Amino acid sequence: MKTSLGTLTLCMVALMATGFPFERKGPAKEKRVQYAAWEDVNVIAHGLLQLGQGLKEHVDKTKIQMRDIFTKLKVFNRTMSELGKESQRLQEEEEALRARAQGLEDREGQLLNVTAELREKAEEVQQERRTMNERMRRLEERVNSMLQGAAALPDTNANAWNNSQARSIQFMLESQSRRIDDLTERVRLQQEKLNKQNVRIRTLQSQVQQSRQRSSFPGGSSTEDPLQGGATEQHDTPVGMAVDCHDMFLRGETTSGVYTIQPGQSEPFSVFCEMTADGGWTVIQRRQDGSVDFDQLWQAYEKGFGSLDGEFWLGLQNIHSIVKDDSYVLNIKLSDWGDDSVSVRFPFQLGGKQTNYSLLIQEPVSGSSLESSLGSDSAPGLPFSTRDQDNDHKADISCAKHLSGGWWFSNCGRSNLNGRYFQSPPPKQRHQRKQGIFWKTWRGRYYPLKSSRMMIAPAAITKS
Ligand SMILES: *[C@@H]1O[C@H](CO)[C@@H](O)[C@H](O)[C@H]1NC(C)=O
Ligand SMILES: *[C@@H]1O[C@H](CO)[C@@H](O)[C@H](O)[C@H]1NC(C)=O
Ligand SMILES: *[C@@H]1O[C@H](CO)[C@@H](O)[C@H](O)[C@H]1NC(C)=O
Ligand SMILES: *[C@@H]1O[C@H](CO)[C@@H](O)[C@H](O)[C@H]1NC(C)=O
Repeated sequence: MKTSLGTLTLCMVALMATGFPFERKGPAKEKRVQYAAWEDVNVIAHGLLQLGQGLKEHVDKTKIQMRDIFTKLKVFNRTMSELGKESQRLQEEEEALRARAQGLEDREGQLLNVTAELREKAEEVQQERRTMNERMRRLEERVNSMLQGAAALPDTNANAWNNSQARSIQFMLESQSRRIDDLTERVRLQQEKLNKQNVRIRTLQSQVQQSRQRSSFPGGSSTEDPLQGGATEQHDTPVGMAVDCHDMFLRGETTSGVYTIQPGQSEPFSVFCEMTADGGWTVIQRRQDGSVDFDQLWQAYEKGFGSLDGEFWLGLQNIHSIVKDDSYVLNIKLSDWGDDSVSVRFPFQLGGKQTNYSLLIQEPVSGSSLESSLGSDSAPGLPFSTRDQDNDHKADISCAKHLSGGWWFSNCGRSNLNGRYFQSPPPKQRHQRKQGIFWKTWRGRYYPLKSSRMMIAPAAITKS
């Protein structure tokens, strides 16, 4: 603007300067001057026009420059405001951090407080313990002095007083001990209850298993028709039949006696069950009075004979049907004429008819030599022999014939619980005595035993 004004003033000055010489020329040359002035005015107007044009251009240029500056300012302002916002955010963050730091400091303070409290408590406890110790010590001292006093002055009042104190302490101790006994008894009762609960649970479990089996074979129990059997499968169990005496026990039977069982796919048959606290044992052999002749043939030993209430052999077939699908233990109980008795247990397997009912003792229990009088620990085990089926390991003679009864004979000398029953006193001759019931590793080869019982149960019974 200032530049434009300056230019205008300059033009005016130039115009005035050109006007002066004309006025000083005088009237003689007036016409010529007038003519010349008109031309001059023209020139000046033209200059003025040019001047205005330049002025306008200048203003326009300035305007554009101003606009540029304004835009730049705007941009700058935006940047500034962004920067402001940024700095504000930074400030906020800083404040948050400071607050957090404060919180942490507070918490640390609380922790320190808690630690201090804990330390105080620990000190209190220690103090208490010291007091207790002190009290104990004093009590001990008192008791000691009392005892000494009682020894030194048997008849004084002080001694009587001391005595009464001693009695009260004794009384306290006694009541304490009674309380402990009471607690122990309660614990024992609880334990018993737990045990009963356990048995009940096992019973329920077996019942559940039974009903599951039943529901998976809904075809009924008739297997008499071989044609029908071929169509519907024969291994269905009639409702409620136990598979052995332990199963019976798990169903709640706790009295020893005769029960009917049906293991696997076999026909039902009767057994004598010996129920104990641990479970039910299925008795497979019993000798006690010589009322039954055990010198029987193969078929009899296969099917079983005797009376379940007295002496009997359950039968190889029946025994095999019980043990063939599960792990079982054999429990043998023997007694001599001095009413000494021994019992031996071991896991075993009994093969079927095709193995001649071979007896395999799976894992001889170490520490007892009693097992070594029976069976074999190498597969397939020791087969059964009778006087009409000689499967023993003796080449020239038949042990069953030479001795008596059917048994898992190897060389005739280790054991035979199915031998002849001799009342006491036994025969004097050795060749007669050796036919008796014997177990070499207990009472020796020539001692006819008074009684024998063989029982079986699932291996799980020994783990319960
Ligand atoms: C710049 O910002 C301020 C405030 O933020 C505002 O008053 C001013 O008008 C702005 N200027 C421009 C050129 O945008
Ligand atoms: C610590 O404990 C004292 C008194 O026991 C209490 O005044 C103070 O507020 C506690 N400080 C904290 C951080 O809890
Ligand atoms: C116990 O008896 C002795 C001897 O008479 C006496 O010195 C002592 O003080 C008595 N003890 C107490 C605790 O009184
Ligand atoms: C079973 O016994 C019979 C008769 O003694 C015998 O012929 C057969 O070979 C025996 N079988 C086995 C597998 O020992």
